[in-house]
Formats: sequence, structure tokens, C-alpha cells
Amino acid sequence: MRVGVLTGGGDCPGLNAVIRAIVRKGVQEYGYDFTGFRDGWRGPLEGATVRLDIPAVRGILPRGGTILGSSRTNPLHEEDGIDRIKEHIAELEVDAIITIGGEDTLGVATVLSDEHGVPCVGVPKTIDNDLSATDYTFGFDTAVNIATEAIDRLHTTAESHMRVLVVEVMGRHAGWIALHSGLAGGANVILIPEQPFDVEQVCTWVTSRFRASYAPIVVVAEGATPREGDMILKDQSLDSFGHVRLSGVGEWLAKEIEKRTGKEARTTVLGHVQRGGTPSAFDRWLATRFGLHAIDCVRDRDFGKMVSLRGTDIVRVPIADATSRLKTVDPKLYEEVGVFFG
Ligand code: F6P
Repeated sequence: MRVGVLTGGGDCPGLNAVIRAIVRKGVQEYGYDFTGFRDGWRGPLEGATVRLDIPAVRGILPRGGTILGSSRTNPLHEEDGIDRIKEHIAELEVDAIITIGGEDTLGVATVLSDEHGVPCVGVPKTIDNDLSATDYTFGFDTAVNIATEAIDRLHTTAESHMRVLVVEVMGRHAGWIALHSGLAGGANVILIPEQPFDVEQVCTWVTSRFRASYAPIVVVAEGATPREGDMILKDQSLDSFGHVRLSGVGEWLAKEIEKRTGKEARTTVLGHVQRGGTPSAFDRWLATRFGLHAIDCVRDRDFGKMVSLRGTDIVRVPIADATSRLKTVDPKLYEEVGVFFG
């Protein structure tokens, strides 16, 4: 048996831990060979490969990024994309592909597996934690830790100058990173895409925080939108899956707060720092367990399935269950943290 492995979409901490677990168990327990595909779906599409064996995965557990490279290449938008993938995997004698990715990468795996008979197994990754059918994705915990540390640091500088500090975090159309880091970091306002915000209300919370002689920290998810008006974007460019590049709401909000409250405001956009560097212990644990269970799926020829975390168990679900709808923040959960606003 020869197993192909690819990592697609935005990278996230823990990808290398999954790859290492797949290869270690696959070689040691099942005697499998591996082919690493380069840069997500670009690898199978162009036949671009990288050596993947035990020496190649030595020492990579704590390393961020991915030794396979990643991209947002969408083979469904390429001419003869599916046929080219099928030809390359036949030439390379690859019997199954383990696809480590988020909504887009796994969406391609669903089509290939369900409609074209390409044997795929999915592993859910994304710092956004927005995939359905799993309690958590790996990468999320590390991103939340990085954002929380940033918020902790911003509290002290905000208070020295008695300024408003707006922190823009990633998460695309889900507010998980904002909610978890905002709560853990003691933010005074948390704004998420699931709940359009009222700028006047934000200013009221900001003013009340100053009245209590503290400087407010406002955590805003990149996909959050004001109740009146559209999503605030820096540019309108789309990636190959048709997603617009988010970011810009933090800058916009700081200006609005300054204008409406007369208080000085600054913005910190955390950006890709949330995706870089070494994974947290939790992400290493989760990513490793996902990898071990993914290779077991291949051994059982249980294709079209994704490994998923349910409580403390790793279970198998149809890949399509993870991508059919986004997992967004429950309004009740958001309401729960509202007690800390202002
Ligand atoms: O999906 C992960 C993510 O980091 C989002 O939170 C963010 O909107 C997007 O990727 C950024 O994408 P890129 O790396 O293409 O700028």
C-alpha cells in the first residue's frame, strides 16, 4: 500500500505532528510506503511530490508550518483537474490520499471521493475552528494562546496611556478565536461575525470602562460587521476558492471610537502571527491522535471519512459532514460572556 499525504489551505500549527503520526504508525505498524504531495492539491494536480519516510519526519513534532508546503490551489477550477489528479495518482501508484485541510481542501476531497472514486481520508485543520462534525480542529488552541498573550500585553500599554486598544484577530466568518481569546484575556468588548455590532453600544462600553479608571481592550474578529452597513474590507481580492481577504475592521473601528468618544484609540492586527510557530501541547496531542486514527481509516479502507474529536474520543464521520455548513458561535454562548462587557 502506498499512501499520499497532502496539507492544503492556510497552514496552522500541528500539521507536522499529524504527518509524523501518520508516517510513524503507517511504516512501523502496517509497513506502508508514503508519497508526500507538495502544496496541497497542487501536488496531485501536477504530480509534484516530496520524499516522505521516517527520516523525513524526525524532529518535526514541535515545528510549525508544514514540511509538505501548502496552497489554496483548487483543482475543481482547473481544466481537466480531476482527470489530471487521477492520472498522477495512478502513475505514482498511490492507493489512497490523506487530506489534511479545512473547509476548502476537504470540500475537494469530498467531491473526489464521493463522485470520482478517489480514495480519500480527511483530517480537520484550521485555526478558525469552524468545521462542523468535530468539537475542535487542531491549530485553534495555539492561535487562541497567541492572541491571549497579545491581549495580556496590550492591557498594560493601554493602561499606561489610558487609550483604547482594538485587537483584530483572524477566524474568517466564525468568532471562535475572538471569543476564546477575548474571554481568556479579559477583554472589555468582544465582537464576532455571528452578531453584527452596534458602534454606539461599543462606545458606551468603552466609555464606561474609562469611567472605572481602566483602559478598554476591544477584541474584534476580522469577519465582524457593524449592524448598519457592510463588511469592512481593506481590499476586495479573492482567493481561488472565491473567498474575499478579510481584515480592516479593526482600523475602521478604532477611528470610529476616537471620533465618537474623543478617546485615543490604536489598533493591533495580529494577522499571520496567529498561525506561525510551534503548536501548543493540546494541538500536538490532538494532531497526533488525528494522524494515528487517519492511518487506521486507510488500513480499514474506510474512505470518504474524516477523523473527528467528540469529547475525548476520536471518531469517524463522512467528510461531507464537516464541510456542508460552517460551525459558528452559538448566540447563547456569546450572551454568556456579555457580563464582562463594558
Ligand atoms: O482560514 C485560516 C485563515 O488564517 C483565516 O483566519 C484568514 O482569514 C485566512 O486564513 C487568511 O488567509 P491567507 O493566509 O490566504 O492570507
